[in-house]
Amino acid sequence: MEVLISEDRIRERVEALADRVNADFADRPFVVVGILTGSLVFLADLIRRIQHPHQIGLIHASSYRNSTTPGTLVVNDGLLPDIKGKHLLLLDDILDSGQTLARLVEHLQHKGAASIRTCVLLRKIGRQTIAVEPDYTGFEIPDKFVIGYGLDFADDYRHLPFIGVLPDNTPHP
Ligand code: IMP
Ligand code: MG
Repeated sequence: MEVLISEDRIRERVEALADRVNADFADRPFVVVGILTGSLVFLADLIRRIQHPHQIGLIHASSYRNSTTPGTLVVNDGLLPDIKGKHLLLLDDILDSGQTLARLVEHLQHKGAASIRTCVLLRKIGRQTIAVEPDYTGFEIPDKFVIGYGLDFADDYRHLPFIGVLPDNTPHP
């Protein structure tokens, strides 16, 4: 497997993102909202570098795609605490088409969030079909299917400590 981003590089970058979050949220309590399941590892590392009071919320989103349609996003917010009037930092593992992030921002606005900032660990270059600009981005990556550090292929590989690229012929488990 090809290592695209090493464990060390991820650690350094997460520290730098946390520095910016610490500067930007110094004056107000906030809720870190992780998009399940891919953001879990990133969330766990990021929050341990945050120096200000915050709560954690989780929201589940999955998209069902086929080759011809963009896919429907199914959102489950049953685990999310009441976010009315709260400042949010919404985290995802990767920005691909942009649909997940754009839809969830809308969803959380409807639920009454006071403000929403967005943060993605990875952003695939040239893939966004929906105009969405994350406030914080870890790495810009080429248009390849990546796994590890929370990202999966058929729900496997999330535990890898680095970001890797699977060979094209990897069988679906
Ligand atoms: P979007 O809605 O198209 O931006 O897709 C975002 C979601 O697709 C992410 O939360 C991931 O779950 C998934 N995804 C997109 N690209 C990859 C990838 O290269 N590896 C693993 N998951 C991916
Ligand atoms: Mg995901």
